Amino acid sequence: MNETIQDNLNYKKYVIDSRLKYFKPHSTKIEKSFSEEISFSLNRDSKFIHPKFFYDKKGSELFEKICTLDEYYPTRTEISILKSIQNDLFELLDGSFRLVELGSGASVKTRLILDVFNKKYDKIEYFPIDISEILTESSELLLKDYENLSITGIIDTYEGGLEFIQNYDSEKNLIVFLGSSFGNFSPIEGAKFLEKINSTMKHGDLFLIGLDLVKSTSVLEKAYDDSKGITAEFNLNVLSRINDELDADFDLSNFKHYAIYNEKDQRVEMYLKSLVNQSVIISKSNLSLELHKDELIHTEYSHKFKIEQIKELLGKTGFKIQKIWLDKNNLFSLTLASKN
Ligand SMILES: C[S@@+](CC[C@H](N)C(=O)[O-])C[C@H]1O[C@@H](n2cnc3c(N)ncnc32)[C@H](O)[C@@H]1O
Repeated sequence: MNETIQDNLNYKKYVIDSRLKYFKPHSTKIEKSFSEEISFSLNRDSKFIHPKFFYDKKGSELFEKICTLDEYYPTRTEISILKSIQNDLFELLDGSFRLVELGSGASVKTRLILDVFNKKYDKIEYFPIDISEILTESSELLLKDYENLSITGIIDTYEGGLEFIQNYDSEKNLIVFLGSSFGNFSPIEGAKFLEKINSTMKHGDLFLIGLDLVKSTSVLEKAYDDSKGITAEFNLNVLSRINDELDADFDLSNFKHYAIYNEKDQRVEMYLKSLVNQSVIISKSNLSLELHKDELIHTEYSHKFKIEQIKELLGKTGFKIQKIWLDKNNLFSLTLASKN
């Protein structure tokens, strides 16, 4: 392993045992970037909070609850596709591969890919990349169930993780990016991100991406505003996180979760709506915020795609599509691509 390159990236290394290690940026770097990004994104006319900040411990737990909701079709649909393509994946993985996952979360869907690796290889190497500490718990659970697995976890942003794996060694990577998390990027940032993934890949590497498809407004809006209010809790939790970590005084009862499908831009837009005129102090970001009644803080985009758009997007960002799979109701897609 090329330890020196990875050690130079300002990561702290935690070796748990011979099968499990983590790399994490130094905590001062993480805290500084959270307070600086919030100071920038809330100190402007159109306010926003980057969706990566949803995922503290509570946020990750709430996301797992969202995945079990009746209205939230993406998780069960993507799982059904993964189950149906296991034989195809077995055939398409030519030679030995390491599994790298962007935004691995609870690593539940990962198991369906690990099962394919398990049939194919004596030893499995898995590199989960996730900004959330949930990565440590999910990794420990995986190790209990897969005896031949070793894990190198990178608790960092997608971009940090991609730089970490770039030039790591000559082993081929299957990079997976599931859950339609790619839909959180704006079209311009998304294209740049795909180019970044592509530039990280070696010839022979493969990329598997799960993307949600365009569908009716009512199905989409229910998926992001469920009847049990879990998505609302998930959205509002980011304000609790800012209160706890940046010493702020958001009163959560003064905000409401708001999700709407923007048909023209093919995206669900999620906001926190201020219910009153109010002032908020965020001490660690040096910010005194004035919000007026009905003002929106943007928290997430979730873009939806048509198959033609997926082909065009991957084509123009340097990929060659190997195969696209859909579920039987055409709700969700999985695309396998190589570097062109
Ligand atoms: C929508 S969840 C998807 C989880 C899982 N892949 C699935 O399909 O159910 C997004 C995951 O990506 C992580 N994440 C979100 N933004 C991130 C970022 N910018 N960099 C790294 N991880 C991120 C979150 O912590 C979360 O675990």
